[in-house]
Amino acid sequence: MVALKDFFASDFLLGAAFDGPIPDRLNPAEQALFLQQFNTLTAENCLKPGRVQPEEGRFTFQDADTLADFARTHHLHMVGHTLLWHNNCPEWFFKDGEKQASRELVLKRLRAHIHAVVGRYKGTIAGWDVCNEVIADNEKYLRPSHWLETIGDDFVAQAFRFAHEADPNVLLHYNDYDNENPIKRDKTLRLLRSLREAGCRVDAVGLQGHFLLDKVPFGDVEDAIEIYAREGYQVMITELDLDVLPFVGPEAEITQPLSPEQLAPLLLRQAEQYAKLFSLFRKHRDKITRVTFWNPHDGRSWRNNWPTKGRTNHPLLFDRELRPKAAFYAVTGSS
Ligand code: G3I
Repeated sequence: MVALKDFFASDFLLGAAFDGPIPDRLNPAEQALFLQQFNTLTAENCLKPGRVQPEEGRFTFQDADTLADFARTHHLHMVGHTLLWHNNCPEWFFKDGEKQASRELVLKRLRAHIHAVVGRYKGTIAGWDVCNEVIADNEKYLRPSHWLETIGDDFVAQAFRFAHEADPNVLLHYNDYDNENPIKRDKTLRLLRSLREAGCRVDAVGLQGHFLLDKVPFGDVEDAIEIYAREGYQVMITELDLDVLPFVGPEAEITQPLSPEQLAPLLLRQAEQYAKLFSLFRKHRDKITRVTFWNPHDGRSWRNNWPTKGRTNHPLLFDRELRPKAAFYAVTGSS
């Protein structure tokens, strides 16, 4: 079997996200698959603020250290995810006793957090998702969050500034979902321009790429790749997967695995759509520097628990038995 990282070696880095600690998260067979197929790894959860600093000044780096050791040992391009997010962020950042913390106090804590975490993995982590999902999905510009409320509009600029200070050599990414959608894309461009005007370094825009079967917005994805690249950013596809189960409405409450007869046509359509996506990515290989799947195989996908828990989903290129699926063969043009 051809390896994805070799097949796309002259195009972009090829990776997957998983969580520390190994071996709880990846058994030896899964590790072997990972190392055979991928050359970049993203920390799925273990570097999120709630995991590394659950209480002020109490850092819990054990899981992330294990993952960083794995990356170092195997010379993987490791991506840190994430320094600032509205989710997985403990309340203590924003509290001063019973009161809301002042802007100065929250900024001091954000700087201390970023310096501690980025500083610890200097030389091992090659790029950081500095800020994740700060653009609003509705008519607003920035997503309402404690960060926005306590610091104000410049919280994103401050985070990028602190990350640059902590490691001037690490790549700095802005990461979001649906940012190929023209409305969200334009708000993202507004944010990126304001960061540039504020003198902040941003190296890459991450398009998460959580897609739904038969609803992949190919045209928007291509436009977004071209537009972000034209603005001077590397484009990274950072959390790719392609859900095959019903996503909204009562049908989304699906707890029984699909039968082989139900699944077969879905996997064929998935294969075609993945192939089309990768031929688009390849066409724009001069703009795209990395493509990362959100998890190495179907059995480890977050999609088994979203939007409802206990699903048996099939969003990736390898199945639960670690076998390549039709989508793998379609993407690599092999059989
Ligand atoms: O580890 C605990 C376990 O001890 C506990 O028994 C169990 C009970 O629910 O929870 C486990 O933690 C879960 C964790 O994933 C590890 O599996 C959390 O509840 C669950 O909320 C967490 O979900 C993660 C989610 O982000 C929220 O942080 C997903 O794994 C992770 O794939 C997902 O990743 C996000 C990206 O960061 C940003 N983009 C979207 C993407 C998908 O939602």
